[in-house]
Amino acid sequence: MSKKIKEEEIIKRLKAILSSKRYQHSLGVRDTAVKLAQLYGVDLGKASLAGLVHDWAKDLTDELLLKKAEQFGILVDNICLVCPNLLHGPVGAELISRELGIQDQEIREAVAQHTMGSEKMSTLAKIIFVADYIEPNRNYPGIDRLREIAFKKLDLAVLMAAEQTIKYLLEKKEIIHPQTVLTRNAFLILSDENECRR
Ligand SMILES: [Fe+2]
Ligand SMILES: [Fe+2]
Repeated sequence: MSKKIKEEEIIKRLKAILSSKRYQHSLGVRDTAVKLAQLYGVDLGKASLAGLVHDWAKDLTDELLLKKAEQFGILVDNICLVCPNLLHGPVGAELISRELGIQDQEIREAVAQHTMGSEKMSTLAKIIFVADYIEPNRNYPGIDRLREIAFKKLDLAVLMAAEQTIKYLLEKKEIIHPQTVLTRNAFLILSDENECRR
């Protein structure tokens, strides 16, 4: 099967399983990820595929996400029990292997980490994490600055994106998963903006 046909088939299935807004978002993340990959020297095919399928499990019900996580041996901590949607990354990573035959470890990891990030991320994982925030359909205060930084300093863009999530969750009085804080701290330490170092 040629790559083109495979992508067409994935797109068809994606359209069937996601809401139309989420489907458009997925295409946006794919296109943005390819642009970032060109700049940061990442395989364009991998970036395109990872961007396209990153939200593969996003529209599963909470019940199904918890069931699949248990079935796949994915750790479900207390926070994920309360907010099962946080599991759509790791569950999606497993599902794209099982349902689409995507076995590439780097793509799986990028999908698994796209919601909360990780202290250690591959360039591909950083690209998907950031593309998720800046794709053309996104709109929130400060997005123009993040879009600009994404194409200049990828690590700083990861930090800004994690902070954007933390601020948003604080404002909405929603639970913040500690992994998001760990990601934020790790990328803050990498950056020049760490007050503790001064
Ligand atoms: Fe997502
Ligand atoms: Fe997304």
